[in-house]
Amino acid sequence: MRFDVFSLLPQVLQPYLDASILQRAIQNNLLEVYLHDIRSWTTDKHHVTDDTPFGGGGGMVMKPEPIFAAVEDVLGSPPACPVILLTPQGRTYTQQIAQELSAHPRIALLCGRYEGVDERVREHLVTDEISIGDYVLTGGEIPALLLIDSITRLIPGALGDPDGAQDDSFASGLLEYPHYTRPAEFRGWRVPDVLLSGNHAKIERWRRDQALLRTLRRRPDLLEKFELNKKDREFLKKREQEEVDSTNNNLRPTSES
Ligand code: ADE
Repeated sequence: MRFDVFSLLPQVLQPYLDASILQRAIQNNLLEVYLHDIRSWTTDKHHVTDDTPFGGGGGMVMKPEPIFAAVEDVLGSPPACPVILLTPQGRTYTQQIAQELSAHPRIALLCGRYEGVDERVREHLVTDEISIGDYVLTGGEIPALLLIDSITRLIPGALGDPDGAQDDSFASGLLEYPHYTRPAEFRGWRVPDVLLSGNHAKIERWRRDQALLRTLRRRPDLLEKFELNKKDREFLKKREQEEVDSTNNNLRPTSES
């Protein structure tokens, strides 16, 4: 998988690429990341990459010429792969989009700064626009790293554990079950007995139930789209009943009232 990142601050991405799983994926030739400084494609004396907006108003807009020149120089014209603009106006990023993008052998990421990019970049160069959420950052560099990170995890062999990406929250449609490691007791808080039992079928069921419960409590919207099996439905029904019972108990008048 190859990423070409176009940015005015490409140096901010490097430290993250030089650590842990991304670094290992690069060393193992599973991942290539090329960082391109858009400023290198300016042709004027002062290397200007932005200008004031036509029509007035505050802020600066990234000029189209160096962006087109950089992307077309590296990727050809028309570009040989998807060109994704990171912008709060894009489609909201999800694990499903990460899966979809991981099918491409090569992706270009264009990081906006300031008020954004000249609209002609959007109209005639960019093939997709992605937002990482409904908030505004100072630039697209963190979103670009976020995409690279989440897509790299999906490359077979990139994670130490070959099944690591399968159980992830969102990958299955459920949030992930809770994890524990040694010690079995810490400050008096014990790890659930079932995890120490060595009974793999029971552990699997417990993990599934916990994932269901966590999703129900934190992200019920995900559960609406999830295909429950018979045991899942039985478990959730039991929990619902327990909650109804405990609410009723709490509402019951006590002997003093
Ligand atoms: N650039 C600034 N804010 C952003 C966001 N939320 N997503 C993607 N790119 C951005």
